Amino acid sequence: MDHERHPDLDAFQPDEGEYSLRPKRLGEYIGQEKIKARLEIALQAAKKRGEVLDHVLLFGPPGLGKTTLAHVLANEMGAPCKVIQAPALEKKGDIAAILTNLEEGEFLFIDEIHRLPAAIEELLYAAMEDRKLDILIGQGPSAQTLKVDLRPFTLVGATTRAGLISKPLHDRFGMVHRLDYYSRPELAVIADRSAHVLKIEMAAAGGEAIARRSRGTPRICNRLLRRCRDYAEVKGQGIITAEIADACLKLHEVDDLGLDGLDRDYLEALCGKFKGGPVGVRTLAAALGEGDGGALEDLVEPYLMQIGFLDRTQQGRRATEAAYSYLGLKPSPGPLFG
Ligand SMILES: Nc1ncnc2c1ncn2[C@@H]1O[C@H](COP(=O)(O)OP(=O)(O)O)[C@@H](O)[C@H]1O
Ligand SMILES: [Mg+2]
Repeated sequence: MDHERHPDLDAFQPDEGEYSLRPKRLGEYIGQEKIKARLEIALQAAKKRGEVLDHVLLFGPPGLGKTTLAHVLANEMGAPCKVIQAPALEKKGDIAAILTNLEEGEFLFIDEIHRLPAAIEELLYAAMEDRKLDILIGQGPSAQTLKVDLRPFTLVGATTRAGLISKPLHDRFGMVHRLDYYSRPELAVIADRSAHVLKIEMAAAGGEAIARRSRGTPRICNRLLRRCRDYAEVKGQGIITAEIADACLKLHEVDDLGLDGLDRDYLEALCGKFKGGPVGVRTLAAALGEGDGGALEDLVEPYLMQIGFLDRTQQGRRATEAAYSYLGLKPSPGPLFG
């Protein structure tokens, strides 16, 4: 269903300013310490043996650094990285052409890998496991299967939806990593690093004010940083101080928790109209004019769950008491609290 995107969803979209801010090496990649420690070992071992890195699957909400990490891994292996969006692959021939053209050691990054057509996913199984590709040539009784050997490569898959990856595909990844939301101190370091790259002058307290409102998400942190730079240049002395950051984020209606207008609309619908739930995400999406709820599931709900405002249950979404007190409301005497 077509519908106009809520403007607050734009904060999650990649933008042109993003490329220059991407860390290139693992050492520059901030946070995700456990994942980095595991990857560091895998990288060193692969290099030592002169092999390619095992296939890697990355899970996590948008903007947490999946694409960045895929490029970092290729960089660390000194290999090129080809990027494709799963929905852009339609026919088996599309993926066959890509796989057979990969150079030895090359990385193939498939974004939104949960959206691969089934036939293409099946082709990937043998490609990942045995580096073989079965190609069907011709049609009807004269059709023949051709087995093609592929050069060693590393597949990095990324998805926002852990639950939508089939087991056979999941099992063919040697490493599966779930990226977590970033802590405030980590986001403050990211803000600092980005300010440095963009040659923005920023007080430590300014960086902390941005970090606090970044919803645990580097992409949002960088976005807010640029808005604050504009504000500082127009309304201040070009330096992002805590006061400048506060005033700027207030102007953009980002509150102290980093919640924006869409988050508040969501919570108000859930706590008001639906009396705290349980309610299905599609029903909520319909009430908010947000299509089939995919955007809510990807972008709005994970963070509300992270900060303890939302429970996802078998019966549907439920607001917590924390959500009510955030809205300044009393919990409704529904099944959850009654
Ligand atoms: N660990 C990190 N350290 C520093 N910057 C990061 C990190 N992760 C992400 N970023 C920044 O956030 C932006 C979004 O990251 P990206 O890899 O595109 O997220 P995803 O692919 O998960 O949606 C990038 O431009 C990058 O500058
Ligand atoms: Mg990405």
